[in-house]
Amino acid sequence: MSEIRILDHPLVNCHLTTLRKKSTNPVEFRRSVGRLSTLLAYAATSDLRTAELPIETPIQKMIGRQLLQRIGLIPIMRAGIAMVEPMLDLIPGSEVWHLGFYRDEETAQPVHYYSKLPDSSPVDVAFILDPMLATGGSAALACQQMIDWGVGTIKMLSIIAAPEGIERLENEFPEMEIYTCVVDERLNENKFIVPGLGDAGDRIFNTTG
Ligand code: PRP
Repeated sequence: MSEIRILDHPLVNCHLTTLRKKSTNPVEFRRSVGRLSTLLAYAATSDLRTAELPIETPIQKMIGRQLLQRIGLIPIMRAGIAMVEPMLDLIPGSEVWHLGFYRDEETAQPVHYYSKLPDSSPVDVAFILDPMLATGGSAALACQQMIDWGVGTIKMLSIIAAPEGIERLENEFPEMEIYTCVVDERLNENKFIVPGLGDAGDRIFNTTG
């Protein structure tokens, strides 16, 4: 069974409300995605391994810590791109491997259009980044690519999820850890999350038209 962590925190709920509001402009929308990404990252990185690092403070020598594992940030374009900078701020040495999927409007199936993953030498820990987990199709495709690459630990970070997407990932990828700020009620007939926040990619990049 997948490990699912739903952040339940006053600040998360307030920033989520900003994202949900129809009146929120792209600047504020991006800022809120960034803040929530930082809070998700805090939760999702709590078990990263560290090693001793001897240092010298202005007062004396001591043993500090440094990250031990190779970390990969895997944003699913487009919307996942907005989660990269907050994560890089916390883990500056991360590698960023973009994946390009869009959802076919008729079938709601993910269509793959970009990936430059190497054939070998996988990262130790992959954080798949996508603000929205709806049917779970895009996340499932991303997770399969991580497995095919040989990644040992895979963590999905989403801001808003539908029960249908969570259930799919639980069934298909029981080893994957899922972190989300909230699980909404359901998907509507167009496979949009209800009550949701609309299309995150369009709201981030100001392409609502
Ligand atoms: C949205 C979203 C996810 C996907 C979620 O992307 O950002 O990637 O749909 O849906 P799923 O769980 O049913 O796969 P979209 O297809 O709108 O592409 P975009 O980010 O380029 O706008």
